[in-house]
Amino acid sequence: MTRRLVIAVDGPAAAGKGTLARRLAQALDLPYLDTGLLYRATGRRMIDAGLDPQHAPAETFAASVGLEDLSRTDLRVPEVDRAASLVAAQPAVRRVLVDVQRRFAGEHGAVLDGRDIGTVIFPDATVKLFITASARTRAERRWEQLASDPHAPDRAEQIARVEQEIVARDAADSSRSTAPLCMADDAVRIETDTLDADEVLAEALRIVARMTR
Ligand code: DC
Repeated sequence: MTRRLVIAVDGPAAAGKGTLARRLAQALDLPYLDTGLLYRATGRRMIDAGLDPQHAPAETFAASVGLEDLSRTDLRVPEVDRAASLVAAQPAVRRVLVDVQRRFAGEHGAVLDGRDIGTVIFPDATVKLFITASARTRAERRWEQLASDPHAPDRAEQIARVEQEIVARDAADSSRSTAPLCMADDAVRIETDTLDADEVLAEALRIVARMTR
């Protein structure tokens, strides 16, 4: 019988977790869940209902989020960035979303990326990776993802603004009292500042091979 493989990929915003986790899942033939989308879909539903994500009973909305909500194309916009961070800080919301994440790995395993996968959701994950990069590197990557014009005269200011938002979101995600962003004691850190996506994947596959032999 093959062993169930659960791979936790945690780290701060825009460190390259999503790209790595998706490619890792493909390489290992496992399902992939971007858990940030659960918080984003919760925030999105509240915005659509005209409610304040900080105060309204966000857990009711979290409870009604299904995997089909995660393919919405309006989950990666600045207002949802903020709403997701606000709902993610609420213990009741996190409690509701634990089961969805655990069930997702089912009997066959999965790759999940987020902030608390290795610490809270799957403390017994087979492999825990913690993906980081400096705030400046992450801001540059996020800015490029936004399909920004590389010749924009105010490129530097735009990147500085994205960096400020990233630093603020890191602070909110790391300082909240429930499941703050932190590295599990038994996680392996990959610093991605000087690595491209292929190099990050190769390093992650080496770590997985080492830890599963
Ligand atoms: O990874 P992301 O930017 O899509 O995450 C959106 C928000 O949800 C972000 O503020 C962090 C939070 N989040 C979390 O608290 N726990 C997770 N497992 C995933 C995301």
